[in-house]
Amino acid sequence: MTDHVSVREVGLRDGLQLVSTILPTKTKLEWCQEQAAAGFREIEVTSFVPPSILPQFSDAAEVLSGALAIDGLLASTLVPNLKGAVRAMDAGARKITFVLSASEAHNQSNVRRSTDESLAMFREVMEERASRNLVDEIQIAGVIAKSFGCSLQGSVSESRVCEIANLMAGYGADEINVADTVGYANPVQVERLLQKVDSVTGAVPIAAHFHDTRGMGLANVAAGVRVGVRRFDASLGGLGGCPFAPGATGNIATEDCVYLLESIGLSTGIDMQALLEVREKLNNWLTDERLEGRLSKVGVAKTFS
Ligand code: COA
Ligand code: ZN
Repeated sequence: MTDHVSVREVGLRDGLQLVSTILPTKTKLEWCQEQAAAGFREIEVTSFVPPSILPQFSDAAEVLSGALAIDGLLASTLVPNLKGAVRAMDAGARKITFVLSASEAHNQSNVRRSTDESLAMFREVMEERASRNLVDEIQIAGVIAKSFGCSLQGSVSESRVCEIANLMAGYGADEINVADTVGYANPVQVERLLQKVDSVTGAVPIAAHFHDTRGMGLANVAAGVRVGVRRFDASLGGLGGCPFAPGATGNIATEDCVYLLESIGLSTGIDMQALLEVREKLNNWLTDERLEGRLSKVGVAKTFS
């Protein structure tokens, strides 16, 4: 049996964070529809942050509600704090990704509190879910940003990343997402850290989130695959980046990531041609942005099947 890998599209969240064009709600939902039709089972559709901070997401509840109606799609949403989680739960969220940073400097810059304060808040989010009797209905993932290094503080200790992962798993996280927010990771480091994280999170699945800032994004995916990770985030056309992390640029391009995974014999369930067509639409929706990625320039190889 072919090993399945889940590719989660994060273009509508990570991708749109750094984009100045505000996409209409209808267009965001068309994007979700089209990508679901291309075979995506999970899309991070929005972010419950204050509209004053990221106006792109002022329609978060409408986008989530529209995406929840798409058959077979798990619409996940990012939250930076308890208030965001409450808003997401009120809007019917089925999967919430709570982000904190292993870098103290980035956590302060991103969410204006210490990492320990964010960890305590993660626990409050879990309690909020429990108090609503929604433990089986809502998945909550813990995202550990800047796990591989930070453009504000420099190195980030691997033992701190593992400590955070262990605590979040202990609080009941349904997934731990290890994120390279600013493209500092290299494949050797990825293998080492993901194995270490896996050894402290028990049965909780690990996802990985890479940016291609320094051209190592896909090599890092391959390294993740080698150590057994089967969940990856990617952003169509390589859009993306954290507005509160200096030097942040695009995620790995979804189309290139899918091509890599399928090329090495893994199954993503994604129709490559349909995906490239969605990318073309995105290109037309975001005329002021330059999309990245290689595959769209040259097409698949003749040997690709
Ligand atoms: N959604 C909507 N409104 C929110 C909110 C949320 N998730 N969190 C806080 N607010 C509101 C509060 O109700 C309060 O409103 P008021 O002034 O009308 O009473 C105001 O925002 C300030 O709340 P506070 O809790 O003091 O937040 P803060 O100013 O310390 O900011 C964050 C903390 C997390 C909200 C902010 O730093 C943030 O949104 N960061 C964005 C992180 C992000 O998305 N990064 C990119 C992804 S990694
Ligand atoms: Zn990111």
